[in-house]
Amino acid sequence: MTDKSANTMWGGRFAAGPDAIMEAINASIGFDQRMASQDIAGSRAHAAMLAATGILSDKDVEAIREGLLTVLSEIEGGTFEFSTALEDIHMNVEARLKEVIGEPAGRLHTGRSRNDQVATDFKLWVRDQFDAAEGALLSLIAALLDQAEAGADWVMPGFTHLQTAQPVTWGHHMMAYVEMFGRDLSRVRDARARMNESPLGAAALAGTSFPIDRAMTAQALGFDRPAANSLDAVSDRDFALEFLSTASICAMHLSRFAEELVIWSSAQFRFVTLSDRFSTGSSIMPQKKNPDAAELIRAKVGRIYGANTALMMVMKGLPLAYSKDMQEDKEQVFDAADNWMLALAAMDGMVRDMTANRASLAAAAGSGFSTATDLADWLVRVLGLPFRDAHHITGALVAMAEGQGIDLPDLTLDQMKSAHDGITKDVFDVLGVENSVASRTSYGGTAPVQVRAQIARWRETLA
Ligand code: ARG
Repeated sequence: MTDKSANTMWGGRFAAGPDAIMEAINASIGFDQRMASQDIAGSRAHAAMLAATGILSDKDVEAIREGLLTVLSEIEGGTFEFSTALEDIHMNVEARLKEVIGEPAGRLHTGRSRNDQVATDFKLWVRDQFDAAEGALLSLIAALLDQAEAGADWVMPGFTHLQTAQPVTWGHHMMAYVEMFGRDLSRVRDARARMNESPLGAAALAGTSFPIDRAMTAQALGFDRPAANSLDAVSDRDFALEFLSTASICAMHLSRFAEELVIWSSAQFRFVTLSDRFSTGSSIMPQKKNPDAAELIRAKVGRIYGANTALMMVMKGLPLAYSKDMQEDKEQVFDAADNWMLALAAMDGMVRDMTANRASLAAAAGSGFSTATDLADWLVRVLGLPFRDAHHITGALVAMAEGQGIDLPDLTLDQMKSAHDGITKDVFDVLGVENSVASRTSYGGTAPVQVRAQIARWRETLA
């Protein structure tokens, strides 16, 4: 729309309409129409309160209620015509309401401003996304617990610096991600609880002289209470920033896991086989099966961090209360939410479908002198050597094995004795990978008994 007449919503003091460029930079309807149902829910709660408090007549509010339902069904049915000249979702809905019900539509905005209205709509939208994230995280954690349980005692190499360090169990590795996504879940729940205060009724910034009932609208919209300071209520976007920072940390976890899946599914590792459903082929190389979903999850983190940084920058210098800068909050959050949910769903699908290759994991677990620490610990425990001496002797034996192109358990007892003559054949018991992992029974350690205890604890917590 390029109508040059003054805006009917706020144009009383204007002689001319906005320049087309002004309209383009000002309008948010292109994206904030995603909050249509939240906007109408907020208006319905506000209208019901205006009737209950006697600020508006029951007759007017009944017309508003019916009219809002009509507008909602037009939006849901795709027949609603959004207008850029009407700037945003709030004014688009109100203008259409006027067309549908006439004069009472103009009374809806009593005791309210677009500043508390947009804060309310956006909070309702973000709250739904926190709830969606909670569901997605619970599902992903359940998928990881199933993977962990199936391979609680399957041995694999544990890495530091991506160099073989000590053997661990598949279940233990899966449970590390359960801990990470579990913290994400708790951040989601914390932030959702903290944000759940209603801005509605803060009006433009100072509250209102109408005898509104903020507790009533808060309750109707599922908020725990009204926000206690009207200046803060209209200028607070902490809830959006907590959403983005929670999403950022979770996306970082998803990205780390995705990176492992990319490595593990390569021909050089073969630790896992990803399902056809979550892989793609190459148009030129027939043998290829690419972990595209994992790669894209690894990349999604960039735009989610970007959204977090962008909104931090928007907010950092704003004086109280509302400034139009804050309209820049929504696209960042919408994009981050869409991509976070997609990444969570894709990871969930990959984890459910993937097969851990037990034999490859086991073969790799014993390579790279992964039980060297077990040998050093044995020298300490059985021969009473100081750990530093044991470390040195073990290093000499690793060098000897490496020189011969064999693994530690392949050395003869005589070769062992050449490094320290107290060594007996019992040492070979600790050089086996299965024994190595079974011995690490400290709390949180990799022993299958510990891993199973953690799986049980998580299942109980989530039940
Ligand atoms: N479209 C605006 C936003 O997204 C709504 C609030 C406008 N308020 C104002 N005083 N101009 O922030």
